[in-house]
Amino acid sequence: MLGLRAWGLGLGLAVLSTPVLADESRWRDCRTCHAVESPSGDVIARGGRSGPNLYGIANRPLAADSGFRFYSDDLRAAAATGARWNESNFVAYMSGPDEFLRAMTGNPNAESGMHVALRSGARELFQWLDSLSD
Ligand code: HEC
Repeated sequence: MLGLRAWGLGLGLAVLSTPVLADESRWRDCRTCHAVESPSGDVIARGGRSGPNLYGIANRPLAADSGFRFYSDDLRAAAATGARWNESNFVAYMSGPDEFLRAMTGNPNAESGMHVALRSGARELFQWLDSLSD
């Protein structure tokens, strides 16, 4: 386990030298369901529609894409706390969406509508998404 973590860290450092390429390739894990589209309709990163638009996710309140109709009750409940996405809660959410919502809502049965988790690279993805938005 320790060895694996150290290996992951090494990888994290290695990709710092080629951030753009590395983060675009990470986007492959998201674009099946998510796009990044500006309020004026420019598609900044192409992707599917079964998840919310991730434009301006940094500092955006949880569950705030008004065009997305399929937020889970539990993500809405977490949003009711007034929380906004930042690097640290984004990383926590990406490593375990259900666990994140359980911790935030205090409901041990909370379940995310997103059945995807990342082992690594969430921080870089957050920074990359932030760099795409004004
Ligand atoms: C299989 C489809 C799918 C994939 C792949 C996916 N997501 Fe999601 N994502 C969703 C859905 C559906 C939701 C809404 C979840 C809910 O309502 O509980 C969501 C919600 C989110 C949210 C919260 C948005 C908000 O408005 O509060 C973030 C952030 C997010 N996803 C990031 C990512 C990232 C980054 C990736 C790639 C590593 C990714 N997702 C991959 C389907 C997906």
